[in-house]
Amino acid sequence: MISDDLVAWFNERWFDDMGAIDGKDVAFLSQMIATAKPRVVVEIGCASGMSTCILAALMSEQGGGELHSFDVAQRYYVDTTKPVGYLVAEAPPHPGVEITVHRGKTCIDVGDHLTGQIDLCFIDAAHRHPWPLIDTLGVLPLMKPGGIIVHHDLKMFQSTQIDAYATGPKHVLDQAPPVTRVYPDAEAQAEGGRLMKSRKINQNIFALRVPDNKAAFGAKLADGFYLGWDKQSYRLVPLDFADRFRDFLTKNHTPWVVASFAEGMRRYSPPEPATPVAAPLRRPGLGRRLVNRLTGR
Ligand SMILES: C[S@@+](CC[C@H](N)C(=O)[O-])C[C@H]1O[C@@H](n2cnc3c(N)ncnc32)[C@H](O)[C@@H]1O
Repeated sequence: MISDDLVAWFNERWFDDMGAIDGKDVAFLSQMIATAKPRVVVEIGCASGMSTCILAALMSEQGGGELHSFDVAQRYYVDTTKPVGYLVAEAPPHPGVEITVHRGKTCIDVGDHLTGQIDLCFIDAAHRHPWPLIDTLGVLPLMKPGGIIVHHDLKMFQSTQIDAYATGPKHVLDQAPPVTRVYPDAEAQAEGGRLMKSRKINQNIFALRVPDNKAAFGAKLADGFYLGWDKQSYRLVPLDFADRFRDFLTKNHTPWVVASFAEGMRRYSPPEPATPVAAPLRRPGLGRRLVNRLTGR
């Protein structure tokens, strides 16, 4: 149940290009929080803090708890004059909920800031594959069995804007055992879109219910590392992060997961060549140049 006050607060602040969840996503989060009544909630990807504020208000209606929002950045990427999480200062009322914004942090820092297990985690950070998988495996060891992991921007894999596509959430969904998948209810989506400002896109969010056997679940999800990583002009997973993440996986996951990540790095995110490929000493002749052009070399 989303209160009229929360609907008004959201509609006053939301705009399409702010990079935030929309009204249909709020409807799904509301259902998840009403069902799970989470006491410890973690968010990966804070940006303006719009979703952080919504999570806090929804948690408050269900008994309250602690909400930790992590973001790799210090500044809000849409308007860098503002800090990450700036909207929290004008959050809707959220009695019983303590919000902490952790700037300059990623999924592998979460454990340093929590005392208990996570009941619900909302992942909405980098969407290019394999980042949503990395974030999922990053929080999985801290998740309570039966807890909920929500992923946003499922439909980015269908984006037709130049270079805007991202297949990360879709890969996570596809690797997850069907029994763990939770989809939005169509009627609730429509109602969320009617009450709150929303994009045209539907069913852009889903959740996974964490099974008791987290090790097997992690190993199954890690199959995604073998599947083509999204293209990017710069290195997809920077080496310093990859080193930290490999250590994290070694301590917290099975050897299968460690090996899957290593193979993905080898295939899809290879180190830059140490030296540029040597230029030919002599320019090929006209005939050779013509052949090269025709054969695409
Ligand atoms: C789409 S925005 C989040 C929107 C926010 N959840 C909302 O609905 O209001 C994505 C955010 O994730 C952050 N981000 C990107 N990669 C990240 C990573 N690996 N770990 C943590 N945060 C990351 C970005 O800095 C950006 O602020």
